[in-house]
Amino acid sequence: MKKLEQMYEGKAKKVFKTDDPKLYIVDYKDDATAFNGEKKGSIADKGVVNNIMSDIIFQMLETKGIPTHFVEKLSDRETLVKAVTILPLEVIIRNVAAGSFSKRYGVEEGKALARTVLEFSYKNDDLGDPLINDDHILALELATEEQLATVRKYAYQVNEELKPFFLERGLKLIDFKIEFGLYDGSVILADEISPDTCRLWDVNTNEKMDKDRFRRDLGNVEETYQNVLQRVKK
Ligand code: TMP
Repeated sequence: MKKLEQMYEGKAKKVFKTDDPKLYIVDYKDDATAFNGEKKGSIADKGVVNNIMSDIIFQMLETKGIPTHFVEKLSDRETLVKAVTILPLEVIIRNVAAGSFSKRYGVEEGKALARTVLEFSYKNDDLGDPLINDDHILALELATEEQLATVRKYAYQVNEELKPFFLERGLKLIDFKIEFGLYDGSVILADEISPDTCRLWDVNTNEKMDKDRFRRDLGNVEETYQNVLQRVKK
């Protein structure tokens, strides 16, 4: 499959058309940003880690009955995916308080939550991805009621599959962000699942094993991404 014209360039990936209108090629970059692009940098071989890790996880989720955009790994940085139209929603699942949740509600990072929390942000860089609720999504026609119900169902299912998957690899899944797309009218999981989009803490030391090392200048960024990939490959 050959790359044709570039469709889209995001902060971490480029998406290309192919000669099949139903398929795109995703090409992962090493560029790293945080705080809506205010902090910029690069993490050596992050693109390789995120591509390979996402492919492994998407294939695992497919075996559990969750439809994803994954078609075929093409190279260390490239994957062939279904040509979805992304729903403009960042779907965040939280098992443990951290990040913007801790800040917003004044809860200590690491505090267990009495229930799983699902949050939506409106995927819009100009607006800084504002938090929105189901009513906002329907009022703004970002998704239909049926699509929204499917997104919620899959998001909780992904969490139930990812928690034991990471725990078996010595990682606690604190929170994560996923995105969905429409393909032939159906909602399927798209984008990526990687240390960029998950908070993962070492189960023994609580060490942060994710993009917070870059966001917060904690050091050992590259080594941490490689460490997570090695664990995921097990
Ligand atoms: P937050 O605590 O900063 O809202 O982040 C929640 C989760 O979402 C965390 O695992 C990191 C991930 N995330 C992204 O994947 N992209 C983003 O732009 C942001 C802000 C968070």
